[in-house]
Amino acid sequence: VTFGDADVEEILYSEQAIHERVAQIGQQITEDYRDVAFAETPHGDPAILMVSVLRGAAIYMSDLARQIDLPFEMDYMAVSSYGTGTKSSGVVRILKDLTSNIEGRHVIIAEDIVDSGLTLKYLLRVLESRNPASITIAALLKKQNPEQAEIDCKYVGFECPDAFIVGYGLDYAERYRNLPYIGILKPEVYQGK
Ligand code: PRP
Ligand code: MN
Ligand code: MG
Repeated sequence: VTFGDADVEEILYSEQAIHERVAQIGQQITEDYRDVAFAETPHGDPAILMVSVLRGAAIYMSDLARQIDLPFEMDYMAVSSYGTGTKSSGVVRILKDLTSNIEGRHVIIAEDIVDSGLTLKYLLRVLESRNPASITIAALLKKQNPEQAEIDCKYVGFECPDAFIVGYGLDYAERYRNLPYIGILKPEVYQGK
């Protein structure tokens, strides 16, 4: 049994490269949201709500949050479309819903990767029906997948190749999320599975 570095064919984004890009996104969000961050909301909550899509985006959001110099609330949603396979099933399920009410608030969805786009397409539909003031997407990665659904991402960290990648939150069969970098998984790890 191998794990970690030995299963990675090529590092695409180093720990340092990810850190720098996440810091840039955080600075951009700070500039873009400065004017709405202190607005009044129906229930007195912070005007900005950052939503992380569990489980893949948990690491990314925790790093991104510390690069945004504004008040905001953090909440978590768990959806799943992949199971343990390597291709999207197209079926998205809510495993855990938000705790907070998003009505009248500015929602920023922190998502680790847009692949087929089906997860975000579904999520946007669900969240838009709850009447937020706005919703934007801050995706760390956008895969160059020719069959990707049309998703408007305001912030994208990296346009990444259409390869099977792991690390920094991204898993294969629930492994490799804890790699500090993002890399391409060796095909022999998932071949025949
Ligand atoms: C992965 C990834 C994104 C989604 C992207 O999540 O974290 O959320 O797939 O794929 P899509 O654009 O084709 O929908 P996954 O469903 O594997 O759950 P996880 O975050 O718990 O790993
Ligand atoms: Mn995910
Ligand atoms: Mg996954």
